[in-house]
Amino acid sequence: MDNFTFYNPTKLIFGKGQLEELKNEVPQYGKRVLLVYGGGSIKRNGLYDSVMSLLKEIGAEVFELPGVEPNPRLSTVHKGVKICKEEGIEFLLAVGGGSVIDCTKAIAAGAKYDGDAWDLVTKKAFATEALPFGTVLTLAATGSEMNAGSVITNWETNEKYGWGSPVTFPRFSILDPVNTFTVPKDQTIYGIVDMMSHVFEHYFHLTENTEFQDRMCESLLLTVMETGPKLLEDLENYEYRATILYAGTMALNGMLSMGYRGDWATHNIEHAVSAVYDIPHGGGLAILFPNWMKHNLKVKPERFKKMAVRVFDVNPEGKTDEEAGLEGIEKLREFWKSIGAPSRLADYDIDDSKIELMADKAMANGEFGNFAKLNRENVLEIYRMSL
Ligand code: NZQ
Ligand code: ZN
Repeated sequence: MDNFTFYNPTKLIFGKGQLEELKNEVPQYGKRVLLVYGGGSIKRNGLYDSVMSLLKEIGAEVFELPGVEPNPRLSTVHKGVKICKEEGIEFLLAVGGGSVIDCTKAIAAGAKYDGDAWDLVTKKAFATEALPFGTVLTLAATGSEMNAGSVITNWETNEKYGWGSPVTFPRFSILDPVNTFTVPKDQTIYGIVDMMSHVFEHYFHLTENTEFQDRMCESLLLTVMETGPKLLEDLENYEYRATILYAGTMALNGMLSMGYRGDWATHNIEHAVSAVYDIPHGGGLAILFPNWMKHNLKVKPERFKKMAVRVFDVNPEGKTDEEAGLEGIEKLREFWKSIGAPSRLADYDIDDSKIELMADKAMANGEFGNFAKLNRENVLEIYRMSL
């Protein structure tokens, strides 16, 4: 196991009716509140009204930034930063999925930065200060509600990058499974794929003796694979929603990834696809991850075999590690297909016409991946395998 420091200051407030806690949390940070939300789901399901009435009860002066896009755009971050600076915003409240939360993180840090917030995303500058913000999560997927990461797209240059800083952890996040009841089936599927992919990004590493971490990762995968299909048949089941919501947060809040460094190449490769084609992140991962695995099976076959045996119930008898590992990868593909996730870029009408461009985007910061370093040709191979 490698040395590590664990830091996560986000207060997690979980369960039915916990929205009321806004009345205790928000006043700690100020009265001038910027409410950030997406394209209207919270208006349709009534969450907007509930949040507004609680903010009214505590006498908050509420400003609004609606319309955050899935794959949130820099132009929206700019709008938010402008409101914060002009109106003296003291606190931001993100009500939505990962996109709304990521956008809020960039606004919170951008409001305390003199230059363009894009500098923070491209790591030209490092965010050392941010306005405080909290979240009301409405979609189980990214883990953004309890991590410091944010992914922003510059649609003018077709670039999409992840960034973060210790100042971009939410102060609190309210997770009421009921607020995820209205997440449509397709987005529920993408969320399941995304949280499982976060665990795979952790799982494929080169450090030895991570038995406890491995078991935690495997447990999360098994739980999501057991509960996910039931949830997809019963979208308003509180217990299933709660399990998936909690799993999504745990998959990327640092709890499973202490003491080793995960790979993270597939996320980079996917971000390049959604930067060019604006497809859902989880959909892209479902297509790419099994192919990344096949591409890197030889790096450490015993790791793939471990996953195959423990998570996908592959019988290793009479098989090489590689053979057992490959069977596991195929079972993962089968599982994702069985819940309705896409498996080819063609499912999004993506052909090979822009794979060179996507590879350029993915390579923006040079070779990447901690389990296996990928060069441009490797990235192209994975895209070709995914057509
Ligand atoms: O915009 P609205 O109208 O709210 O609709 C959204 C959106 O269309 C809808 N939705 C959300 N909650 C709903 C709902 N519809 C009905 N009922 C609800 N309760 O779902 C759609 C997708 O929302 P979005 O926030 O885009 O999804 P997700 O949470 O999957 O976030 C995706 C973004 O997060 C980034 C991705 O790259 C992508 O940009 N990621 C962020 C990470 C992080 N910060 O740690 C890590 C991830 O790996 C990921 O890269
Ligand atoms: Zn992800």
